[in-house]
Amino acid sequence: MASHMKIEPMVHDVGSGINFGAHVSNVDLENASETDMAILVEACYRYQVLVLKGQGHLSPRAHYEFTERLNSAAAMGHGNQHINKASLLSPDLNTVPHQSQVQIIGNGFVREHQGAKDLKLRYPHHRSSHSTIIADQDDMEFTRFYRWHIDAALYGDPLPIATTILAVTLPKRRMQTVRYDDGTGDELLVPLGTIAFASGETMYDLLSEEDKAFVRSTRVEYAAHPYIWMGRAKSHPTGLGLISEGKELDDDQLPPVDPASIQILPMCWRNPVTNRLALQVHSARVRDILYRLQRPGIAPQLVYAHDWEEGDFVIFHNRGLLHAVVGSLAEDEVRIMRQCIIAGTEMPEGPEEVV
Ligand SMILES: [Fe+2]
Repeated sequence: MASHMKIEPMVHDVGSGINFGAHVSNVDLENASETDMAILVEACYRYQVLVLKGQGHLSPRAHYEFTERLNSAAAMGHGNQHINKASLLSPDLNTVPHQSQVQIIGNGFVREHQGAKDLKLRYPHHRSSHSTIIADQDDMEFTRFYRWHIDAALYGDPLPIATTILAVTLPKRRMQTVRYDDGTGDELLVPLGTIAFASGETMYDLLSEEDKAFVRSTRVEYAAHPYIWMGRAKSHPTGLGLISEGKELDDDQLPPVDPASIQILPMCWRNPVTNRLALQVHSARVRDILYRLQRPGIAPQLVYAHDWEEGDFVIFHNRGLLHAVVGSLAEDEVRIMRQCIIAGTEMPEGPEEVV
């Protein structure tokens, strides 16, 4: 069946170094054909962030089913094994009662949403996880990248390919300035509650030839339960990487470890459509080296800060990008988003050079 879908690459400001993002229209996510799905998968790999406007009607069930279909189709040659794909969401998060794979995130008190009652949503604030913080009197005007990450447990199931987020209710739009606070003077003006994206592919492209050779030929063994292990460690003021202060948990403080669940992954992953390599290393022990390799890729002119409107449905390529929650919301700034994160079926592909 022919598809009428329209894909228009985003046009970024003059001087911007952002080389990803596209707007998608003329597709019904609840009744997408196989052709539509194939086009969306190709676009997700090629443009990394896809924005679809006016999707507020999407039910949590349709949201989940679409995300599941997208991730299955995106597994490409690896087949449509509809194996029991686990949700990567932690059980204590707020989820839609009748569609547990869909998480409710946001800010403020919500009396009822999709059958979930008396939700006290808390927007992540950098004061809980950064080594230094912005002074209280500046907190509504200035903010930070909370934590650059990909959506992955990095333990057990293969990481998700595409994450999807729907903006349901947003507070009144205002601007905030992200401060990097790392001595560079770097700043970025962003809309309140943006999600910031940086390209792991650009991060790789910016490396010296020597560093490229290093990351192409190196694998990383992740800690067991890495996010629990590093839960108390603080991050740099840029939200990138962790500072080593010996705050990680000891083995006996972690849940039981299944050695088969420990992940060993290449430091860069190949995009199956464009063949570009993305630098993707997270929560690893080699922190100082990693920070030096990753920091150039989050320079202000390389960061896409999505300007949310209610009804926006955003699909992003989790294995190609890094993303960060951004902003300081006041308690009465109510925001409701629905997010779906589904584990993949296969590990990402590395560069051929890895042995
Ligand atoms: Fe995330």
